[in-house]
Formats: sequence, C-alpha cells, structure tokens
Amino acid sequence: MDPPATDVAVPRTLCIDIGGTGLKALIVDSKGKPLTERVRVETPRPATPQAVLRALQKLVLPLGAFERVSVGFPGVCIDGVTHTAHNLHPQWLDFPMARTLTRLLRRPTRVINDAGVQGYGVVRGKGVEMALTFGTGMGCALFIDGRYVPNIELAHHPFKGDKTYEEYIGKGALERVGKKKWNRRVAKVVAQVEPIFNPRFLYLGGGNAKHITVQLPPHVKIVSNNAGLLGGIALWEQVAS
Ligand code: BGC
Repeated sequence: MDPPATDVAVPRTLCIDIGGTGLKALIVDSKGKPLTERVRVETPRPATPQAVLRALQKLVLPLGAFERVSVGFPGVCIDGVTHTAHNLHPQWLDFPMARTLTRLLRRPTRVINDAGVQGYGVVRGKGVEMALTFGTGMGCALFIDGRYVPNIELAHHPFKGDKTYEEYIGKGALERVGKKKWNRRVAKVVAQVEPIFNPRFLYLGGGNAKHITVQLPPHVKIVSNNAGLLGGIALWEQVAS
C-alpha cells in the first residue's frame, strides 16, 4: 500500500458514480474534502460488467492513492451484489460488484444504489428526507434521521397512463419533449411523490437537475450532481459492512 502523504487526512476514499451516460470518479479525504478533480468518461456500450470495469480501472488510474472505495450504482444493490441495471446491461443481474472491484482495485469497496449515495451527500439527518435524481434514469432514495432505506425503486413504477416515472422524466423524455415541457413534468412528479412520503426535505439531483427552472415549494431543494460522488464517504461511516 502506498504511504499516505503526511498532510492528507486519511483514509482517502475513491468515490465512483456509475451512470447510464457517464462514469465519474474523484478522491476525497477522511473529512469528505475533494483531493482530486472529478474525472469522467462516457459509459461504454454495451455496458456489460466487463466493459464498465475496464473503463473504471482506466479512469481511476491517474487519480493517485486511496485506501477504500465507494460506488454509486444505477440499480438495486444488496450486500454489494447488483440485482438490476435498467440503463446498463442484463449481465448485471446478480453480479458481485463489491467483491470484484475490491479485487481489481486492491482496496475494500462498498457499493450501494446511486440515488442513495446522492442522498447521503445532501441529507441533514433529521426526520424523513428524500432524494430524487434526474439523469439517464430516475433515482429515488429515502432517509430517516439520516439512515438510508435502501433500494426504493420508483423509476419503473407506473406514473401516468402506460408511462413509468423514468419514461416520463428520464433523459430520453427530456430530449424528446424539451426543457420547458420537461420542467412541467418535474413539477408533476414532485406533486405526485410528495404526499406519499411527506419528507421534510425533498432534494432533486442528478445530471439533469441543472435544467430545473420551474417554481417548487421551499422544502424542495435542487442539489449539485457532485453529491453523487461526495456522498460516497458516508458508505464507510454509516453503512454497516
Ligand atoms: C434505476 C435506479 C437508479 C436510477 C438512476 C433507474 O433506472 O432503476 O436504481 O437509481 O435509474 O440511475
């Protein structure tokens, strides 16, 4: 293992965000402060485990030393094993992602759903809080007093007519209907989800949150997509191994 630099708060965490469109990574110190730039490559297609792992290995190589790894994965993850990956590839069904990355990167690795990581990056830790992410897909994460309730999947649940939430509000929909109509859809999704969970705060993140211009209630906050990486440190502080 590389000797840690004396002026750096260790352990350093390599935070990885696997998206349907891009793979992103950066290293943070033990306090969650970024130590490197965020690096990004397009998600390889077809996005099989093998192709994504190869791209990740190449992506993180220039970042330097780290002691542990956190991954946000765009699908259901239980005990580091991926069970769905709607926007990647069917080969992710029952894939031992945490174990495989631990071996490849030679550092202990934890993997949870990407919206969960995003939420960890922004929640305040009191009462019910929720994060929705608008990117290639639609992520959803629920927190109670700062504790994550894993794998709540709204994305593929029917939203309206024969459309699921993700078909209604995902990247494909944004490209098809344009920003103005998509913004009206954001407001409708918020209005639909709100009265079910009644969160104190509802955070809207993901790569497309930057396009949100519609007026939203004061407790609905637009957050930076970087939280999808910075929340990674919580996987080592708050999630049991
Ligand atoms: C997946 C979710 C994921 C979301 C955002 C959806 O297609 O089912 O698990 O959080 O995309 O990546």
